[in-house]
Amino acid sequence: MKNTLWRFIDDKGAFASDNAHRINTLYFPLCNGYPFMSSVTPDLHGDIKTGNDTFLLEPASRIDLSNSKVSRNFWIHINPDKIWSATGVSKDLSAIKNDRVNLKAGLLWQEITRQNRNIGLQSKITSFVPASGEPVEIMLVTITNISGLELKFTATAAIPIYGRSADNLRDHRHVTSLLNRLQVERFGVAVTPTLLFDENSHKKNQTTYFVFAFDEDEGAPEYIYPTQEEFCGEGGDLETPEVIYRDLLPDANKRTQGKEAMAGLRFREKKLKHQESISFTIIMGITTQKDSPKTLFSKFDRLDKVRRSLDLTSEFWQDQSSKIKLETNNASFDNWFRWVSIQPLLRKIFGCSFLPDFDYGKGGRGWRDLWQDCLSLLLDNPEEARDLLSNNFSGVRIDGSNATIIGQNGGEFIADRNNISRVWMDHGVWPLVTTLLYIHQTGDIKILLQKTGYFNDNRLSRGKIYQGTILEHILVENLTQFFNVGRHNIIRLQGADWNDGLDMARENGESVAFSSMYAKNLDNICELLLKLGQEKIFIFKELAILLDTLSNKPIDYSSVGAKQKLLNKYLNAVNTAPCGQVATIPGNRLIDDLKRKSCWLSGHIRKDEWLRGGFFNGYYDNEGKRLEGKSGGITRMTLTGQTFAILSGISTDSQTKSIYEKASLYLKDKESGAFHLNTDFKKELHALGRAFSFSYGEKENGAFFNHMSVMFGYSLYSRGFAKEGFEVLDSISRMALDAGTSKIYPNLPEYFNADGRGMYSYLTGSASWYVLTLLTQVFGVRGVYGDLMLEPKLNAEQFKNTKEISITANFAQKRIRVIYSNPLQKDFGKYSIKKISLNNKIIANDINSCRYLFPRKKFLSLAAKNHNMIEVNLG
Ligand code: G1P
Repeated sequence: MKNTLWRFIDDKGAFASDNAHRINTLYFPLCNGYPFMSSVTPDLHGDIKTGNDTFLLEPASRIDLSNSKVSRNFWIHINPDKIWSATGVSKDLSAIKNDRVNLKAGLLWQEITRQNRNIGLQSKITSFVPASGEPVEIMLVTITNISGLELKFTATAAIPIYGRSADNLRDHRHVTSLLNRLQVERFGVAVTPTLLFDENSHKKNQTTYFVFAFDEDEGAPEYIYPTQEEFCGEGGDLETPEVIYRDLLPDANKRTQGKEAMAGLRFREKKLKHQESISFTIIMGITTQKDSPKTLFSKFDRLDKVRRSLDLTSEFWQDQSSKIKLETNNASFDNWFRWVSIQPLLRKIFGCSFLPDFDYGKGGRGWRDLWQDCLSLLLDNPEEARDLLSNNFSGVRIDGSNATIIGQNGGEFIADRNNISRVWMDHGVWPLVTTLLYIHQTGDIKILLQKTGYFNDNRLSRGKIYQGTILEHILVENLTQFFNVGRHNIIRLQGADWNDGLDMARENGESVAFSSMYAKNLDNICELLLKLGQEKIFIFKELAILLDTLSNKPIDYSSVGAKQKLLNKYLNAVNTAPCGQVATIPGNRLIDDLKRKSCWLSGHIRKDEWLRGGFFNGYYDNEGKRLEGKSGGITRMTLTGQTFAILSGISTDSQTKSIYEKASLYLKDKESGAFHLNTDFKKELHALGRAFSFSYGEKENGAFFNHMSVMFGYSLYSRGFAKEGFEVLDSISRMALDAGTSKIYPNLPEYFNADGRGMYSYLTGSASWYVLTLLTQVFGVRGVYGDLMLEPKLNAEQFKNTKEISITANFAQKRIRVIYSNPLQKDFGKYSIKKISLNNKIIANDINSCRYLFPRKKFLSLAAKNHNMIEVNLG
């Protein structure tokens, strides 16, 4: 495997490429927590926005990156008639075709160099968004004379300002331009549309879009063209603007208001001797009245300020990318992992909407994404996450469903942005998964007793808002689902489960995959309750309806009808709001009830869903037909159906072995070793979901879908199948790093398609699971009720050509570097821990086990420093 697209140029994630500009679909993310979000391609296409209603550059989907004329352009005019786009976006291809282009990029900046011998100039354009949080993107252009002669030229920055909502791309595009009010300022153009256009209820617009620029000596542009109409002219366009090609000066008499806006900023003529350089800086911002464009501009109005900001930005992202740091026998992998490890943060900022591949949604994250991204965000500083978790729980409804979209800072819950009423049946699973991780990392089991509200403002009759414990919220989510079964006594699929594409089986579909997870959750709650040791548990009175074994009328769990009836009784009881009375439940009886439910469901799945083919069935469709197994002469199998059977502990070890064999047979790609999300069903499944109407090998229809692949890997590791887990994870990183084929920058994309191409870069839940798997399973560094567990599941292969490998992370607010040596090159299962030392002091010797539990207290008393070295010898 040779990466022919780019190469790492340091050990801090920076990479270089000579041919990135030849790939139409490549984009790079730039952002800060404002949230200010940009995507930028090698020729500076891509958009800029702070939200769905506030795009500075016109929204760009994947296809627009190459098709649209909108970009950040920078024109050079050498008298009398040489014209060059220093960004490489010009209709005059003869002027740019011989450009030598190089890209360098790092965390989080992009630098493009173009050299044009014919013109005699080189441009170097560095793009970044200051990590300090100002809502601006900065473009630093350095022009160097590479000819042997002195050159004179004028430079014109050309940024078309869209300045409105993504919705207006088609909805009243022209009418919304009539709202534009343009202000020509000394350093550029500011646009403040009069209204936020929405026919339901127009609102006064508070947002200003601006593009200001200055040259080397902080000089302002000499001429400003504030409209596209004037800049492009009647016969030109953004790729052949008439003012550039005909060397026209702005016409002071032209009307400017109510037109498509433009920041055409032409600088005074410059003179450069051989090898001399000169810089221009362009600041593109989106601001509300709080910070005026001038105030924001004043922070970056000198070259030294801009360079300092660039350094700080790079330092910020370097820090983020080294929170969990690897030193393995593969430097490229370690570098790649830096990019993966910042992806959860990118998704926190961008949500699932604002990069070119993600041209859906209107911002914020979905419920399951929120919780799963927390998995890795938690690992860094779980102690700080308490409030965040508690707040997230207030998105749960009393009927067990939840808000589906969560706004930028987690504070804002939205039932459904598109007003589609649907329930994703997996949603109840994730909060406990994440809370469990939090409890293990911190030991803070008391968080379960923390109180928080429910979504939808559940007012009690007396007007007070009801608040219940987090434990109660978890119970609501898991108990309601236990009873919410379809005709096979498996939990109903409803709107879909993890797989968004299974959305056409609302009435009768069932998800065995997530039923397994609910069974596991019920069991986990029992374990938590035991640990919590509360004699009495307080819940709102109606919830006790679902604890049927505590009543004198326990129901028969094998009766679908009885389950549905009980659930309806509960839903009717909480229809308006809980009555406000509290039921007191003895802790041990609650455990007993939950245990019965969990055992019943696991047993049922084990008994009825294991297929003769040697793997599990994961679904029933809307006609009540089983999805997996042999049908019409072909074997149908889904990775999801297997992953959760393994993860939940429902599969026995021998079943897990069989599942892996069958997955290798039916789902594994011979060449890459990666696993398809499902086999090719060779037909659409309108009784199951849209996924099977996608062409096979794309997205949720049989792609190498990384989110599920990583969870598959995690589940195998968690059950001690380290060799198999490694194969799964390894296939993913190899595909990503084979960038000649995957055609992506270093990151973990949502999926690889059948051509091996990486799709939907950066904003995917697979990154969070990848980080989690690597730290807590592969390197085995994790908390167990607050104590530090070391249980590496490493293979001999990972020690090839190296004496030791290490991972650096935070635990109990201390920085630890855990170094594993494996001199005998043994595989997991064959080695045990021979010696452990902390900061050169031996902690344990000859432990006849492959794991070691370091009590938190002992760890804290010995680990006084910020940086701690834990050496673990395997043998
Ligand atoms: C995306 C969604 C995720 C969903 C998955 C499968 O995955 O974000 O919620 O479960 O598709 O439909 P991701 O891009 O996070 O890998």
